[in-house]
Amino acid sequence: AKDPMRVLVTGAAGQIGYALVPMIARGAMLGPDQPVIIHMLDIEPAAEALKGVTMELIDAAFPLLKGIVATTNAVEACKGVNVAIMVGGFPRKEEMERKDMMSKNVSIYKAQASALEQHAAPNCKVLVVANPANTNALILKEFAPSIQEKNISCLTRLDHNRALGQISERLKVHVGDVKNVIIWGNHSSTQYPDVNHATVNTGKEWKPVRELVSDGQWLNTEFITTVQQRGAAIIKARKLSSALSAASAACDHMHDWILGTPKGTWVSMGVCSDGSYGIQPGLIYSFPVTCEKGEWSMVQGLQIDEFSKAKMDATAKELIEEKALAYSCLN
Ligand code: NAI
Repeated sequence: AKDPMRVLVTGAAGQIGYALVPMIARGAMLGPDQPVIIHMLDIEPAAEALKGVTMELIDAAFPLLKGIVATTNAVEACKGVNVAIMVGGFPRKEEMERKDMMSKNVSIYKAQASALEQHAAPNCKVLVVANPANTNALILKEFAPSIQEKNISCLTRLDHNRALGQISERLKVHVGDVKNVIIWGNHSSTQYPDVNHATVNTGKEWKPVRELVSDGQWLNTEFITTVQQRGAAIIKARKLSSALSAASAACDHMHDWILGTPKGTWVSMGVCSDGSYGIQPGLIYSFPVTCEKGEWSMVQGLQIDEFSKAKMDATAKELIEEKALAYSCLN
């Protein structure tokens, strides 16, 4: 039998945490034959709620769940973890200035970067979910210099899956028969969901989405805004932000990163730019990637038209501004 892997979930008493920990304990993230020890971190005001989640994990009697660490101490939470899913953060309140929200998250991610750097297992893989996800991941990267940069990522897989979902609904095909959409840039409303390389399985062959969707204008307008604004639409409908789809996407992200993407398929991950596609090096930006043996590599050489380039640069520009704002909070 395999040795258990230690998986940290921060903000574990929150909405996404509540949906995510049972998925991990059922093997949705690391596979059905991989035992896990789940580490849950939250803050003092949520300590009682975290106890409740612990009780429910015990009550669910998951065969793969070999242990639980539930704590409000970041150092204890990070000890020996192989995987870290960073969901905890300071939410934006309506009356709040962007800078205040940024400042709170910068200090959280700076502190948690140090705890991870000092106490996580070597080669720990990190996924930041909490918003502003790309910039929180950037701060984590800057303050955990001994964690390899390729091991730090942020979640845009939810946006990727939303794009697959919209194409599937439009063409009335199963979502599993759509692949290779791309989310470029920030996990925010400036993200660019790109279908120029996406294909659909027609039964005989994979055909370009652009050939199958007769209304090309829809792809350039409504499709893009629907994906960009899906989060807001869910809040409107549910009076709460997306949690089950976010948790599911976090599982998909880690699953594919560690266990690999299927041949001929790529996924979107927020990772450190190396300058590919003209994106400023060092930004955490969502790119198309393939994964093999626990390593991602960027999909290179895709043709980018002018329409796409403008949208990719606009979302990069927002990330550069977020980075500047985050740095101004450090001083
Ligand atoms: P929530 O408010 O229900 O849960 C957040 C939890 O984090 C709370 O239990 C809170 O006590 C905890 N927390 C706050 N500061 C912490 C700290 N310093 N250390 C550890 N835990 C801390 O929020 P929800 O709905 O679970 O969302 C979590 C985050 O995920 C939010 O920032 C949200 O914007 C983001 N999100 C990102 C998505 C993505 O695709 N990247 C999709 C959906 C949400």
